[in-house]
Amino acid sequence: MIAHGRGRTLATSLASEHAKSLRSTSQPSEGAGVPPVAAGPTPQFAPAPARGPAVGRPGYHPAHREIRGMTTAATPAPAGALDSLEFDYLELYVGNAKQAAHFYCTAFGFEPLAYAGPETGVHDRASYVVVQDRFRLVLTSSLVPGDAIAEHVGRHGDGVHDVALRTENARAAYAAVMAGGAHGIAEPRELHDADGTAVVATIGTYGETVHTFVDRSAYRGVWLPGFVRWEAAIRAPHAVGLSHIDHCVGNVSWNEMDTWVAYYERAFGFTQLISFDDKDISTEYTALRSKVVTDARNVVKMPINEPAEGLKKSQIEEYLDSYGGPGVQHVAIATNDIIETVRALRANGVELLETPDAYYDALGARVGAIDEEIAILRELDILVDRDDRGYMLQIFTKPLQDRPTLFFEIIQRRGSLSFGKGNFKALFVSIEQEQAKRGNL
Ligand code: FE2
Repeated sequence: MIAHGRGRTLATSLASEHAKSLRSTSQPSEGAGVPPVAAGPTPQFAPAPARGPAVGRPGYHPAHREIRGMTTAATPAPAGALDSLEFDYLELYVGNAKQAAHFYCTAFGFEPLAYAGPETGVHDRASYVVVQDRFRLVLTSSLVPGDAIAEHVGRHGDGVHDVALRTENARAAYAAVMAGGAHGIAEPRELHDADGTAVVATIGTYGETVHTFVDRSAYRGVWLPGFVRWEAAIRAPHAVGLSHIDHCVGNVSWNEMDTWVAYYERAFGFTQLISFDDKDISTEYTALRSKVVTDARNVVKMPINEPAEGLKKSQIEEYLDSYGGPGVQHVAIATNDIIETVRALRANGVELLETPDAYYDALGARVGAIDEEIAILRELDILVDRDDRGYMLQIFTKPLQDRPTLFFEIIQRRGSLSFGKGNFKALFVSIEQEQAKRGNL
């Protein structure tokens, strides 16, 4: 349909990139010399048996093998232990962590923070930690053939393995989610070095993705035990100004969304975030369904997408095919000034999705008064959506690796709790308007 111009790029990207997922995670403890938690091949959904390593571990219970059963058999998580969760870091399993770390620093403005590898006594992997304000990324590669990290990369390409959650008490958090039917991967364990003790514990979620609870309350080191400060003169040409993770989105398979929503409700005590724009009307345009689970403070917001039947192949389905199953599709990173952030990202060479001009012709009527100049938003391809609480601005990167899987979203909230659903319809309508101008509709 759209053969030329920005509309074509947008159509392609919207359809396939907003849906691509990010999905590798890793465990800090592994880099710290703790026996790695296995990440055997996991069929797309739920089957705990695929997480072979978990079976037989202390804390593992056969009842946890079937997540669907969990929703009726488990008891809700006790209040308290999970009240102050925050996103702590994302660990990506990648083919070449050294180069990936360089990319995230020079393109996205992260700075070197910590390292673990052969020089620090870890011989099976290399992990680089990079930081920007409150957002920490861990890039981990295998140094040996055929281990869990190498197999993860083989199955999924570069992707998010661990969406780690900071807690003030990892033991209590782990006990709480396990009481709620979570899928245990590694029981709480202490990691020590001269700077103190950290406590970590790991559970599974969709696909091969995990959540590691991280408690650093008794640790003073630069990152976690086993890591040393990473000194490197790697800086982005233009400061980007990213702040923290706003939300982290998972793609799951057909008809699995509600099961995973229930998983977070039962294990974490999360609730479904209902927002003004949470209407199925977008399905016609997006071929996906999405629900958002969040903690009571709306700090840990995790939308979960599943494919839906549409006019074209669902972008979620494309992700599942490319990633080899469910995983993290995108991570939205907050900024306080999206205009300056986008200018810096473009100057640093980051590829962002483009938007058809017609989108901006209709923007004022759709979202009402906003502080930003529409001409600038048009120049930079920044999108706007509104709900009953305010508005938000967002833009998406192209995939961050060769597979059309993980991508970033840059987001600035001005009161709104929206995740941008209104943009799906607005973008498709504007693409068709551009198409009509060319006489091709
Ligand atoms: Fe998002």
